[in-house]
Amino acid sequence: MPKEQLVKSRQRVSDHGEVFTPRWLVDDMLDLVKPETERIDSRFLEPACGSGNFLVPILERKLEAVRKRHGRSDFEKRHYALFALMCVYGIELLLDNTNECRESLMGTFTRFLSPSTDDEWLRAARAVLAANVVQGDALKMTDATEKPIVFPEWGYLGRGRYQRRDFRYDSLTQRAAASEGLFAHFEEHEIFTPVRTYPQMTVADLAATASPVVEGATAPPVIEQAERDETTEVGA
Ligand SMILES: C[S@@+](CC[C@H](N)C(=O)[O-])C[C@H]1O[C@@H](n2cnc3c(N)ncnc32)[C@H](O)[C@@H]1O
Repeated sequence: MPKEQLVKSRQRVSDHGEVFTPRWLVDDMLDLVKPETERIDSRFLEPACGSGNFLVPILERKLEAVRKRHGRSDFEKRHYALFALMCVYGIELLLDNTNECRESLMGTFTRFLSPSTDDEWLRAARAVLAANVVQGDALKMTDATEKPIVFPEWGYLGRGRYQRRDFRYDSLTQRAAASEGLFAHFEEHEIFTPVRTYPQMTVADLAATASPVVEGATAPPVIEQAERDETTEVGA
């Protein structure tokens, strides 16, 4: 097995604190939250995700759960695999790491579906990754264009249909504060409202919107507002 590269350069360590976590340590840390890593629909966010050293093993564990629970039906297996990918999120400051992270997740997803992966599924997965793995500053909560980071919340409705609602990251981080103090008297849905809700979509719909989702050029219409649920934060 090739030796893991945990540092790219001294300069990057000094400028960005960029030291990647070795696989054995990632596995040990994930074992601390093992039941969550083996749930297909648990959401994981890595706010300094590097090239995906946490997110890839998380996806692998979720896909193993997909194999066990839905492996007998190719239709269900594919759709739940995409849903597993939809539940993995990252923020990374540097563009090369962001791209490596997306590619590594893509590789894991593609290997899981192979040999029957077709172009539509790949485009759908790329659209998901473009939205879920954001190049940005997790401390300022802004993306590379200085706009507030927005994350999609995906749901699988069954029968090949997904739903998507987008939320601002800065409002999601107020969740902890909402249980006490200033926001205590508010209902959650009064604080956590989506900035955009999309019509239900199939894999084909998702694949067709791949470019607009990647580039943020065109967005489907807002149709409603609703509340938000939990996401687990992980990482080094
Ligand atoms: C210590 S490395 C950890 C990477 C990965 N979590 C791992 O364990 O392998 C920290 C990562 O955070 C990124 N980073 C540094 N400051 C950041 C910020 N403000 N927002 C998002 N990412 C940041 C760095 O570029 C680097 O990839």
